[in-house]
Amino acid sequence: MDDATSSNQPPRGLGRNAANYGDRDFALYLRRSFAKSMGYSQAMLDRPVIGIADTGSDFNNCHRTAPELVEAVKRGVLAAGGLPLAFPTVSLCEPFLHPCSMHYRNLMALDTEALLRAQPMDSAVLVGGCDKTVPAQLMAAVSADIPAVQLVVGPMLATRFEGERLSACTDCRRYWARYRAGEVDAARIGRIEGNLATTAGTCGVMGTASTMACLAATLGFMPLEAASVPAVHADRLRLAEEAGALAVRLIAQPVRPREIVTPESVENALRVLLALGGSTNALIHLTAIAGRCGVKVDLRRLDALSEETPVLVDLKPTGEGYMEDFHAAGGLRALLRELRDLLHLGCKDLYGRTLEQRIAEGPEFVDRAIIRARAEPVSPVGGLVALFGSLAPAGAILKRSAATPALFETEARCVVFDGLEDLAARIDDEALDVTPRDILVLKNAGPRTPAGMPEAGYLPIPRKLARAGVKDMVRISDCRMSGTAFGTIVLHVAPEAAAGGPLALARTGDRIRLSVRERRLDLLVEESELARRREEWRPPPAPARGWDRLVHEQVLQATEGADLAFLRPEGR
Ligand code: FES
Repeated sequence: MDDATSSNQPPRGLGRNAANYGDRDFALYLRRSFAKSMGYSQAMLDRPVIGIADTGSDFNNCHRTAPELVEAVKRGVLAAGGLPLAFPTVSLCEPFLHPCSMHYRNLMALDTEALLRAQPMDSAVLVGGCDKTVPAQLMAAVSADIPAVQLVVGPMLATRFEGERLSACTDCRRYWARYRAGEVDAARIGRIEGNLATTAGTCGVMGTASTMACLAATLGFMPLEAASVPAVHADRLRLAEEAGALAVRLIAQPVRPREIVTPESVENALRVLLALGGSTNALIHLTAIAGRCGVKVDLRRLDALSEETPVLVDLKPTGEGYMEDFHAAGGLRALLRELRDLLHLGCKDLYGRTLEQRIAEGPEFVDRAIIRARAEPVSPVGGLVALFGSLAPAGAILKRSAATPALFETEARCVVFDGLEDLAARIDDEALDVTPRDILVLKNAGPRTPAGMPEAGYLPIPRKLARAGVKDMVRISDCRMSGTAFGTIVLHVAPEAAAGGPLALARTGDRIRLSVRERRLDLLVEESELARRREEWRPPPAPARGWDRLVHEQVLQATEGADLAFLRPEGR
């Protein structure tokens, strides 16, 4: 730590970001004094400082191993000559947040960015994992633009249970759907509940957390194998140690986040997202991360990439395996080798290595049951398609790899729910006028609503239809669905209903046409009738105060990553 301010060297370590009392020398004198109260030797205080964003929380089961990971990061930092200082940030775990974790992703990004900027550190390690945490941390890192290493907690293991394997959360949904249909009784659903998530770590399928881990590694924020090493594997601790050491090395050879988030690396990440059959949520998050440095993710470009990028990974919810299978099968490196000719191989990671070099390292082994060859894909085309039309002028998304092809070309009457309360009140009503051919529509659940764009796009099949054996219906909404969910589900309709998009005008009895072949989503209602309805439409009232108010005023649409406008470069 600088012991005076007369040096012409740029401040480093604890000499950075002095408190502003109008007397920098005094501020640093005071800081040294207080730092000494923690019992560090002067030699330690003179070291470069590595901040460790610690997202351990009693409200975050996925991050149960965060304390030991932070300890391992500290080992790596100390051995490499740095001073590790951990600090708490907002931590978000999917099932523990109301109205939903997405509502707080930008809060975590804002909080993390502020602390990265405000505290004296030369580089950082960001310990994340659960769905919204990695996007929030990368958004923060890109905006603060200080050298930052991503470390994820890793996926949980699947559990053997009565002759099958279970893991959160595709199996959660599969069994809940069977329970609703009367195929599984209350006693069994209770036993299932105790066996869906039995180890520390993030959901054990290719849901949002696993997809984001793969994208973070593809972008270059962590080693490729770090995307899939299970949470409870000893290698996870070695990766944490290495993350600490890397953060120290980055001080002498800085690679800033904005150097590795480029149009090319973002396109690589999109390819990986498609080939994984990855989470639709990851598209919003990648759009937000890229948007923080002015890189635009264009849905039409995504759609073009989807036509030439096969799904190669056979994992739930698209296929059968679990994350531990993906890791054992060769993981992200094996997948990237298959995609090699489709990638921008010159993109560099935090180590300064090109993607070509990263792919070439490591064992050649690949288990073709999980990571398919290009010639024998799970699907010859990518997992996601973008839809446009009179119902979604700015676009919408369908995860075709988890959908029912027989429903791809559907023109039908729609049954509209005005919001989540309306959905909850009526979906299981025996008197609900609904048939298996109808399209279910949920509106007023987008990013601008108090609901905060929840994962409610996976509208349940009305109970009476589920009991009759209906497994899938076309469902359309302006919200999201879990990365672990499946079905013919159109999501992220933009502009959302609460922003006055055409979705706001849809009414039960209207006809809607979905054409995956033509990439169309149209509301088949005369323009004169729509104009009349538009006259009647009133925007929902703004929340009175606090974070909800700020979100309402600032949040952008899903096609722009649902970031807050004032946090984007053009907003500053
Ligand atoms: Fe944390 Fe699924 S609940 S990753």
